[in-house]
Amino acid sequence: MPQSKTDSIIPFPLNVETVRHDFPILNINVDDKPLVYLDNAASTQKPQMVIDAIQHYYTSQNANIHRGVHYLSQKATDAYEEARRKTARFINADSEDEIVFVRGTTEAINLVATSWGSRYIFEGDEILISHLEHHANIVPWQMLCERVGATLKVIPIDDDGDLDLVAYEKLLTDKTRIVAIGHVSNALGTVNPIKEMIKTAHSRGIPVLVDGAQSAPHFLIDVQDLDCDFYIASAHKFYGPTGIGFLYGKAHQLDAMPPYQGGGDMIQTVTFEKTTYKKAPDRFEAGTPNIAGAIVMGTAIDYMEQIGRESIATYEQELLTYARERLQKIEGLSLIGNPKEQAGAISFALDSVHPHDIGTILDKKGIAIRAGHHCAQPLMKRLGVPATARASFAFYNTKEEIDSLGLALEKIRALFI
Ligand code: ALA
Repeated sequence: MPQSKTDSIIPFPLNVETVRHDFPILNINVDDKPLVYLDNAASTQKPQMVIDAIQHYYTSQNANIHRGVHYLSQKATDAYEEARRKTARFINADSEDEIVFVRGTTEAINLVATSWGSRYIFEGDEILISHLEHHANIVPWQMLCERVGATLKVIPIDDDGDLDLVAYEKLLTDKTRIVAIGHVSNALGTVNPIKEMIKTAHSRGIPVLVDGAQSAPHFLIDVQDLDCDFYIASAHKFYGPTGIGFLYGKAHQLDAMPPYQGGGDMIQTVTFEKTTYKKAPDRFEAGTPNIAGAIVMGTAIDYMEQIGRESIATYEQELLTYARERLQKIEGLSLIGNPKEQAGAISFALDSVHPHDIGTILDKKGIAIRAGHHCAQPLMKRLGVPATARASFAFYNTKEEIDSLGLALEKIRALFI
């Protein structure tokens, strides 16, 4: 079986039945109905290998890192730093020193907005985001703008949910200091042409942060090929634990950034007069970090590589196409957004049935979807809806589960219309 991008040209077909055995939670019943879990954009389920790794850490490795000379501290430190190397490989970073462990996407963007922002963003400057962003890639920038008197600019989208790239180029001005853009929209599944967008921004000397919360789970990421300045993801969305994620930053960007938080483990020397700091990435990891989380995130990466990341991408695309076709057959159902390229998620409306009613009735049938604004209120406003129903997929989902969703939606429509 291919293990990674380097040894597979034609991806090995993913056997979904075999894969499902790895996820114990997929066997539970909800109200006596088998669970159909289609809320993967919110959080993915965990394979046994990841669950076991949590137990393994606490039964044979647990100690504080970077501090002790004793056996367990060395062991925990080695495992923690090995996880940093795995994470670097996961996105093809040039060096593990470009990986900072954080709580997740939200903390990573706050870190960049606060630290990088304090160095490079001043009154009158502009920060460019898009209309597709979720709140984590809006609010930290807005807070920065309020602090320093900068302006937040927004790349518009068309009715299909694709970015308006002509408008994007026009919005890049001499005042633009950074572009912060989601790779994949959590609400519509739009895959943005980020490589091209990064090239355009760089031609004007503007750095780019890519929010990869919804892309890292679905396809191969090569930060050197993308040439992004920052790339960010949360482990719980790619089969790892909650409360851990990573910030990738090009070495020269991280090196120029002041610390985000002060405390133990990020310092070189401390006196009451002056403190000096370690280099990146340690400079950004104050206090005892989420040691278990980082190590187990490494196990989630191992798991995805065992399945084969190209196999995952190929299978999930097949599933998404099947889902679009199945849902479009339902009378009164409209897909929200029709992006040129899509991954992970589909939003829809069903006549005048409120998305929350759809979500609640589906739950009674054991089907988990997300209904709401998906932490993307400005996008909902642009789409002219208060909320959508969203089905989001992982490689353990099946076509049969999509058929169950389709059938349940047909019954809901019959009930309401
Ligand atoms: N960002 C997560 C979602 O899309 C929470 O559901």
